[in-house]
Amino acid sequence: MTDRTIERVIDSVATSDGAGVKLRRSVGASQFLRHDPFLMLDEFYSDNPDDYIAGFPSHPHRGFETVTYMLDGHMRHEDSVGNRGDLGPGDVQWMSAARGIIHSEMPQQTEGRMRGFQLWINLPAKEKMNDPAYRDIPSSDIPNVELDDGGQARVIAGTLVQASGETQGPVQAVTTDPLYLDVHLPAGTMFETPITNGYNGFLYLYEGDATVGEDGQALKRRTAGLLSDGDTLRVRAGGSEARFLLLAGKPLKESVVQYGPFVMNTREEIEQAVQDYQSGKLTLTKSEAQRLKVFPAT
Ligand code: CO
Repeated sequence: MTDRTIERVIDSVATSDGAGVKLRRSVGASQFLRHDPFLMLDEFYSDNPDDYIAGFPSHPHRGFETVTYMLDGHMRHEDSVGNRGDLGPGDVQWMSAARGIIHSEMPQQTEGRMRGFQLWINLPAKEKMNDPAYRDIPSSDIPNVELDDGGQARVIAGTLVQASGETQGPVQAVTTDPLYLDVHLPAGTMFETPITNGYNGFLYLYEGDATVGEDGQALKRRTAGLLSDGDTLRVRAGGSEARFLLLAGKPLKESVVQYGPFVMNTREEIEQAVQDYQSGKLTLTKSEAQRLKVFPAT
């Protein structure tokens, strides 16, 4: 049994995206801070509407998946082929942009707290030009599991394995085989789970304090701890309840060329994406989408 330890810490940096939404970016804050297949993780968190009200108006994506997980607040998604979804507390939207999508994500509140995460997961070269797919996952479809030694975990993707049994999340059968957990540990509680050898993993601590591994390496709040390889992860909450995201997935080991919202393997493919966007060919037309039955009819 090999314990996973924290190999590298990525502090989150304050930045803004969309029409000026304030957020904190850790993984993906630069091209040297990706963790294959994870391209980026943003946390948006504010009680001040000025920080989020402008939202993310219409913008394109190609070549990867975007996963939005809301903790507080309400956001509406609309895309170029007529798809619509509402995200409330605890809901997840899993979108595979693949060959292209143009969408907007707009807050549906003018006061109160807006809090959540957006994760970008890369797609393998052979799937980057597939048709896009999209899934709204209501909070009620996400298992909230009691952990063996106390605390709970929401299983968004992949399978949580504990001594007492296995729990499957609603998202399965993605090529990078992502594990996506939201773990809540009461003060002093230990959490232990196997993580497939060879998969890249990281924790993002968003509440409290926690330590990782036998040596008790401390992770600060609002930082991402990239994990060494191994088959077991042990995390212990500190003096207050710890809340963290645990992500792990199969690395693609392919070249990554990114230009804003386009992530491909070569510069030529990026040039093609920009050209397709400018000429209106990035995404499916409504009739193509209906013919392919990619999206539910709206
Ligand atoms: Co987007």
